[in-house]
Amino acid sequence: AAARLVDLTTTLAEHPDPAVGGQVAEVLRSVDVLHRAGLRRLGKLLRKAGLERRALEDPEVALLFELYELTDEGERARAAAVLADVIPYIESHGGRLTIVAAEWGDVTVRLSGACAGCQGSTATLRHVVEGALREGLPDFDRLIVEPSPAGHGHDHGHGRGQVPEAATPGFVPLASIGPRTPRISWVRAASPAEVPPGTLLGVDLHGVPVLLANVEGELYAYEDRCAGTPFPLADGRLDGDALVCPWHGCRYDLRTGRRRDTEGAPLAILPIAIAGADIRIGMVEGRPG
Ligand code: FES
Repeated sequence: AAARLVDLTTTLAEHPDPAVGGQVAEVLRSVDVLHRAGLRRLGKLLRKAGLERRALEDPEVALLFELYELTDEGERARAAAVLADVIPYIESHGGRLTIVAAEWGDVTVRLSGACAGCQGSTATLRHVVEGALREGLPDFDRLIVEPSPAGHGHDHGHGRGQVPEAATPGFVPLASIGPRTPRISWVRAASPAEVPPGTLLGVDLHGVPVLLANVEGELYAYEDRCAGTPFPLADGRLDGDALVCPWHGCRYDLRTGRRRDTEGAPLAILPIAIAGADIRIGMVEGRPG
């Protein structure tokens, strides 16, 4: 009967009158939505009553659940297919997604946000995943997000150019650049007039995003990304000597680059020097020094 159903559907879907094919597809979709919702509820009730395994031992019941991909494997595969589209987006924002389980409309994932200690980032990614599941799975019910194992998602925070937390950014006299640091070159980033007190400026230096900040007349330079993420900070808000991230609101001490609101990775400090009308950034082989 199942094979005959497939034959008939294929024949009708390929009917010369495209309207017929469209209507057949609509009938099938409606039947699917109706049956799937009822079967899913039935499956949940069977599980609650401890009868799920017994019911699935019956070949006809098992066939029905398999046809609707309501077995754990089937649901997981459907969830994976739907989420395949959003995984590149999540990864491009430094996040990671693992599907742990999918059963009876509940999809369980492990989701790590882009930045260490940044709940906002994970919330954004969660929103994206939930939206995709709601749109792609007609019987989607609930998204369950499991906590990531410790340390997961924190491995983006140690980029090149970052220095130990104890270091303090500030002016580096050009005279101090001698044979000790032969590979460093100082690249002009802007003029001091372009970064007046109380402002931020984002510049691109050979593909490296650099954030310049002027706190009460003192200039500081960092890689322009919220620690452990690719999100730029140049549109952030200055609050005295604190920088508020425009994405999820975390706060950094602009004099040290350290987090103020919570524990977390600091900003990546860059060497900065002022020479006349030039603000220069120390680069090693084209990368921040
Ligand atoms: S990107 Fe999340 S707080 Fe900055």
